[in-house]
Amino acid sequence: MRIYACTSIKGGVGKTASAVNLAFASAQAGHRTLVWDLDPQAAASFHFRVKPKHKRLGRVLVRGEVELDDCVRSSEFERLDVVPANLSLRRLDAALEHSKHPERWLTSALEAVSGDYDNVFLDCAPGLTTVSESVYECSDALLVPAIPTPLSLRALAQLMKFLHARDQRRYRVLPFFSMVDRRKALHRETCEWIHAQPIRFLRAEIPYSSLVEQTGVRRAPLASFAPQSAAALAYAELWREIEQRVEARREEARDEAEPPPRLVDAQIAMWREHRAT
Ligand SMILES: Nc1ncnc2c1ncn2[C@@H]1O[C@H](COP(=O)(O)OP(=O)(O)OP(=O)(O)O)[C@@H](O)[C@H]1O
Ligand SMILES: [Mg+2]
Repeated sequence: MRIYACTSIKGGVGKTASAVNLAFASAQAGHRTLVWDLDPQAAASFHFRVKPKHKRLGRVLVRGEVELDDCVRSSEFERLDVVPANLSLRRLDAALEHSKHPERWLTSALEAVSGDYDNVFLDCAPGLTTVSESVYECSDALLVPAIPTPLSLRALAQLMKFLHARDQRRYRVLPFFSMVDRRKALHRETCEWIHAQPIRFLRAEIPYSSLVEQTGVRRAPLASFAPQSAAALAYAELWREIEQRVEARREEARDEAEPPPRLVDAQIAMWREHRAT
């Protein structure tokens, strides 16, 4: 079972959109797929039209009063299940801080479903919290959407710096651009500049598209109602690339794939200079 976290310190960058649409791509490719909504906003749950069975979900999960498999709901799509969220997850951090090994919580919770799924997508709340640390520990890859703007890149650099301080070689960060509006010079230049640097962004990028916003209206993944749209094809391409990169990981050293954070900072500083000229 592979675990992919859609995560970023920054809010509103496309974490939920990527969790929903990549999970759908995974299920369509024949993999048994689970989306675990870890955000009290419960946006992924809303997209899949499911609600949790337990009202005090955060507390019962952290205390181990229920197993994760008891929280799984089916979606209307084949091979795609969801662990939905509700507002009670706002207390998850506080509950975790009182547990013995907070950073191991997700790893052990996921053991209950380890035989049931090929791929798990964690839809994370923004921020860098105790829950995030547990996410970093259990994930095979951290999928980090970034809008091609300074604040998004800065949040990515902050995350990489944090992971580096904890032994970055244990983590695999796969950043990609989302909500790219190629009519904007800033977006075009930022994407081109980043792709020319040793930061290994995924090549596939998700365009800005009102159809992605429509997923919240239709409450369904994009490819289920507009499979040939540019954004749906971009998510499919992104999923292929993620799978390839995670496969290829066995052959390559992690530190080759991920530059040290000081380099990231330098690159972002260069990029700022470049923009100022
Ligand atoms: N490619 C896109 N094009 C246009 N709109 C998008 C795109 N991706 C996401 N959106 C919209 O932008 C908003 C934020 O996206 P999303 O909820 O996926 O971000 P998030 O990182 O999960 O946010 P949060 O940090 O609040 O959890 C949503 O209204 C979503 O529909
Ligand atoms: Mg979200």
